[in-house]
Amino acid sequence: MQKIVILTGAGISAESGLGTFRAEGGLWAEHRIEDVATPEGFARNPKLVVDFYNARRAQAAEAEPNAGHLALSRLEKDFAGEVVLVTQNVDDLHEKAGSRRVMHMHGALKGALCGRCEHRWEAPLVMAPGDSCPQCTQPAARPDIVWFGEMPYDMEQIYEHLSEADLFVSIGTSGNVYPAAGFVSEARRHGARCMEFNLEPSAVGGLFNDIRIGPATQTLPEWVAEVLAN
Ligand code: OAD
Repeated sequence: MQKIVILTGAGISAESGLGTFRAEGGLWAEHRIEDVATPEGFARNPKLVVDFYNARRAQAAEAEPNAGHLALSRLEKDFAGEVVLVTQNVDDLHEKAGSRRVMHMHGALKGALCGRCEHRWEAPLVMAPGDSCPQCTQPAARPDIVWFGEMPYDMEQIYEHLSEADLFVSIGTSGNVYPAAGFVSEARRHGARCMEFNLEPSAVGGLFNDIRIGPATQTLPEWVAEVLAN
């Protein structure tokens, strides 16, 4: 085995105290997607949206990586082949755990994006609606988060990695949001073995060769030890 491509979702950060989206009492039970995670919602009420991400940025800044994040950073460091980590998460817990090669396909709380010129820069801890862009000076700053209806980042590169993967691993994601939910089919089509780590099989669970049920802080350290022992 030479190349492992890993996709993570909110479940890997759950044991670090960051809420998932679709659980009972999760973020999407308390906030309407169309209000806080769409360009139309932002146009209607920028303050609501900026405040929502300010709160999540503050929470993520306090959070610590858990044994699941740490196991993946160990894998990247010690595996003889290539490890590519793609995350749907907008927190930086993979980086805090020491992972170096992380693709944030849904953007990052640490980033700000200009809605006019698409310049990207490091967000302050607290953003305000109408903050100006350091490049074009327009008052068009927004959180650098990929909202519903927008194109996720790095898709071309990600599909290339999936086509080269020997093993595709999906961790803590419910398999409801595309294109990420389609990565397992794509990897299979190119001949990769596919593994899922979750508390229960996801919506696309039937497509995996192997499903490991349990909290990521337990299942991931075990699995990484197995891979590194072989
Ligand atoms: P979800 O909230 O949809 O799913 C989280 C998944 O993690 C569920 O399948 C849980 O069973 C699983 N899970 C929870 N705790 C776990 C644990 N300790 N160990 C292992 N698995 C656990 O979150 P995502 O699938 O990441 O996008 O959501 C995908 C996208 O939808 C997000 O990136 C976000 C959201 O809308 C945007 O905001 C653009």
